Amino acid sequence: MHVKIPTNFSQLIIIQNKHMRERRQLKSVLQKDHEHYWHPCSQMKDYETFKPLMIKKARGSILTLDDGRELIDANSSWWCKSLGHNHPRLKQAAIEQINQFEHVIQANTTNETIVALSEKLSHLTKTLKKVFYAGDGSCAVEVAMKMSLHSRKILGENQRTKFIALENGYHGETLATMSISDVGLYKKPYKSALFDVEYLKPIPYVSGGTDPIWQNCNTHWKKIKPQLEKYKDTATAIILEPILQGACGMLVYSKDLLKKLRAWCNENNVHLIADEIMTGIGRTGRMLACEHAGIEPDFACISKGLTSGWVAFSAVLTRNDIYEIFYDDYETGKAFLHSHTFSGNPLGARIALETLRVFEEENILQRANTLSEYLLNKMQEVANQTGKMTNTRHIGCMVAADIVCANPKERLGYKIYQKATELGALLRPLGNTIYWLPPLNTENEIIDILADITAQAIISC
Ligand SMILES: Cc1ncc(COP(=O)(O)O)c(C=O)c1O
Repeated sequence: MHVKIPTNFSQLIIIQNKHMRERRQLKSVLQKDHEHYWHPCSQMKDYETFKPLMIKKARGSILTLDDGRELIDANSSWWCKSLGHNHPRLKQAAIEQINQFEHVIQANTTNETIVALSEKLSHLTKTLKKVFYAGDGSCAVEVAMKMSLHSRKILGENQRTKFIALENGYHGETLATMSISDVGLYKKPYKSALFDVEYLKPIPYVSGGTDPIWQNCNTHWKKIKPQLEKYKDTATAIILEPILQGACGMLVYSKDLLKKLRAWCNENNVHLIADEIMTGIGRTGRMLACEHAGIEPDFACISKGLTSGWVAFSAVLTRNDIYEIFYDDYETGKAFLHSHTFSGNPLGARIALETLRVFEEENILQRANTLSEYLLNKMQEVANQTGKMTNTRHIGCMVAADIVCANPKERLGYKIYQKATELGALLRPLGNTIYWLPPLNTENEIIDILADITAQAIISC
């Protein structure tokens, strides 16, 4: 007997078959992922139950998965997508550069793009007029550390070898940057290969720019200064994340501490290295976070947002007089011979240049400062609605709060992360700290949805 299948019914079957095929494909890709791909910053066993999200497309603040679901990228893909994903002007710049040349050795060659970028970066501050390029954030920090140490050798200040850092600071994943970072869990296994660093404490943490300690941290300074005095003849540099410490849980501290540290460094011939890898290029509402304190460091390290996270690319800005220390006949052996293959790679340089132009022409800083208040209000609403959040803090386009949790071993943040992913937001909390650090040009409507999802996720866990 011949059964006539209605057209729409046969179409339904075709669609169902297509979905089944796609599900099978996805399963096989995920199986292969688990067999071969060791993901960063992950306990891979977690992936048995919490499968990686299959990304198909990313535009602005939105990630699209292969099954069509959309997720808000609430942490700007590890804090780097300053202008969001796939910004059309950055894409065009990348295409233009690729059509010219994608990479050429930067020793003994130059090009208009890298010169224009260096000039633009030299305008970020009054004093940092020389730009040295590195590959990623950690390498930029190492370059600044090496420059500081090397300059001491050249000047015969051989006793100045000590690095001083802040409690809870984070500066990268290489052995030297781990040494200067105060992140127990991340560095413990490598202790035997790390060097000793003095960590200053207590850090005068604040809830934001209206906190009284923001302007005046005298009480803390009384405890910090004696720690510094011990090293006034042997320190080469103090290194810090200005104003906002990211990896330790998005902690904001007093701008007065930065001012006091700058003054102490000036009095004692110690360098100040500002690790602006995360804070730089607008994240805190200023191009550099040091601007909050009205100070300039001796070295500023920038990366992440500099290319709006298009490619790994970083820069170290320093003063002319530090550059001059290395400037001499080759035979004197004073040259700074740090030679990273992709230093100043033209693709990154072209995108970075366009990023800075977009900042100027699309008033991104202004937008970031408007979004800043909106983020804070929305996070406060979430805190009120859930009744489960404490210690809300905020600066620029970053707002964070801690989940109240009786048992810190419970991995409550991780549960909330999974739930939020189901609901449509990629939060990736830091332990039990929930934070939003979206692209600086994110629309308010997206923050509204993000707030709803965050609240729902917290309530349901
Ligand atoms: C303040 C700070 N410094 C350095 C780094 C290291 O940068 P990268 O991961 O590009 O090596 C990071 C990365 O998150 C950072 O937040």
